[in-house]
Amino acid sequence: MSHADDPQGNRRDFLYYATGSAAVVATGAAVWPLVNQMNASADVRALASIRVDVSSVDVGSQLTVLWQGKPVFIRARTDEEIEAARNTPLTDLIDTEARNDNLSAEADASDAHRALSDDGVWLVQIGICTHLGCVPIGQSGDFGGWYCPCHGSHYDTAGRIRKGPAPRNLEIPVAKFVDDTTIELG
Ligand code: FES
Repeated sequence: MSHADDPQGNRRDFLYYATGSAAVVATGAAVWPLVNQMNASADVRALASIRVDVSSVDVGSQLTVLWQGKPVFIRARTDEEIEAARNTPLTDLIDTEARNDNLSAEADASDAHRALSDDGVWLVQIGICTHLGCVPIGQSGDFGGWYCPCHGSHYDTAGRIRKGPAPRNLEIPVAKFVDDTTIELG
């Protein structure tokens, strides 16, 4: 290798890295104004709550919506699912707390404290496994509720952890019916 080649090689390396970091800076610059914009209170308010039309969700099916960057499972449960959840004694549960943002932190994990509607049909929960954050699969697992294949966590038909490494029931977000067919999240 001649002396003349070395500086050229170094220069090419330098230009390569310089271009690389310029790209990183540019990406940062592109993202930041968006984050700033989202900090504006009007935008945050718009994102803080959403309304979901559930008129097309039949009994036995689930709608998944994205809210505040998280999947939310909205399920219309069958009679069998409601019955299974209601017939489960609290002593069978791993996590006996409701984990329901609509109730006090002391509320127990009975099905009535998990379901959104008094008839037990509607169940609304954050679709993120409480172990390490995977998205569980619906209507599967040993308890007919949700199953997280990442490390094998089984949730029942009320979204309560029953088996596997997840420590807590699926979280229930602030939610309410604003009319017969519309659920407001947040
Ligand atoms: S992330 Fe769900 S079991 Fe580990």
